[in-house]
Amino acid sequence: NEGALWGARFATGPSPELAELSRSTHFDWELAPYDIAGSHAHAKALAAAGYLSPDEEAAMHEGLDALARGVADGTLRAAPSDEDVHGALEQALIGIVGPELGGKLRAGRSRNDQIATLVRMYLLDHSRTIAREVLRLVDALVAQAEAHPDAVMPGRTHLQHAQPVLLAHHLQAHAWPLVRDLERLRDWSTRASVSPYGGGALAGSTLGLDPQLIARELGLDRPAENSMDGTAARDVVAEFAFIAAMIGVDVSRLAEEIILWNTREFGFVTLDDGYSTGSSIMPQKKNPDIAELARGKSGRLIGNLTGLLATLKALPLAYNRDLQEDKEPVFDSVRTIETVLPAFAGMIATIRFNTDRMAELAPQGFSLATDVAEWLVKQGVPFRDAHEISGHLVRVCEEEGIELHDVSDDQLRSVSPSLTPDVREVLTVEGSVASRSGAGGTAPVRVREQRAELIERVQTA
Ligand code: ARG
Repeated sequence: NEGALWGARFATGPSPELAELSRSTHFDWELAPYDIAGSHAHAKALAAAGYLSPDEEAAMHEGLDALARGVADGTLRAAPSDEDVHGALEQALIGIVGPELGGKLRAGRSRNDQIATLVRMYLLDHSRTIAREVLRLVDALVAQAEAHPDAVMPGRTHLQHAQPVLLAHHLQAHAWPLVRDLERLRDWSTRASVSPYGGGALAGSTLGLDPQLIARELGLDRPAENSMDGTAARDVVAEFAFIAAMIGVDVSRLAEEIILWNTREFGFVTLDDGYSTGSSIMPQKKNPDIAELARGKSGRLIGNLTGLLATLKALPLAYNRDLQEDKEPVFDSVRTIETVLPAFAGMIATIRFNTDRMAELAPQGFSLATDVAEWLVKQGVPFRDAHEISGHLVRVCEEEGIELHDVSDDQLRSVSPSLTPDVREVLTVEGSVASRSGAGGTAPVRVREQRAELIERVQTA
């Protein structure tokens, strides 16, 4: 069992079946740059504690730099006999600096504290990329809202026409959850910025290495308070997977609407050719595949989170090999979200809104009935009665096959003497929207203020 990290107490090497099951290099190689950064920091701590001479330390850093170059240009790869990234890199280091020096680096550390540190470094790095991509999507939504300050559309509840709203209000309603996702990433990063390095296998080290030094070198805020928690906890990974799933779910709700809006029946949007796909048989088709893939992949992100939680459930302290199962799902979540977001932001940035069609539908389905009731309240009618009167008016319209703005003065009077022709002032979509000027409402002035707030929140997130 030449080269393995743990051969001596075994009479034979691992069986091929065990090696096949145990091997993780096909996914944990992704952590190689972080492993090397950890080794640089560890070499400094060993030197500071007197376990490496200045010359040895310098040679170690040089050897590690050579490893990093090999990883970066692809000339250094894991061999089939390597169990994991840590073992593979130690073998390669020994190949460069020799067994005498190369064999010193493992003092005072375990793969358990290494892996717990590296996965945090990896996720912190990617959280910055993901935040940037979420921000681009928010920017695209805000730009579309800005470009359509007055466009109206049917606002829906239960997918039924409810009340008219501004398109900008609707788009910004999709931006706010993404702003909260950015804030979640920021909050998470303060919890994640911890270095378990120095925790060893579980109980800490006897060598007096400085964990502060290592944390600082790795750009992490502080060492873990408890070596068992540091090496065995993965809540930080699960929480990251949750945020990725939440982003996916937030995006999927907008995706679903784009898919609906892009149907002939709705006709609200036209997708840019660069962000839609065709059919191999139906020449006329232009499909919203980005939105559908985003919707579909949100399921995958949820699966990664639930799989991870199932792995963690009831796992006793401290490290167990089960914990190796944290990486594939969370790496997949990172890759998925980093692929979905740029395409989705591009689709939103280039979408064309058919505002005439939206405006035409905005008043339909008696969406101004609440405005009639509230107009009556302003005339002194109790809301209970106003609701009845407005409901009655809707029934008359339905029977006549007309919309609210089509009713005659006589029809108004026949429903209630309180319904004078003056009610027509609220029977326009523009009037309705403008009058919803309470906090957070859809009136253009409020939506503009809200956008300024949104932009400010995004800048501090
Ligand atoms: N590859 C392992 C993981 O991802 C780290 C190695 C720990 N192995 C061990 N036998 N303690 O969690």
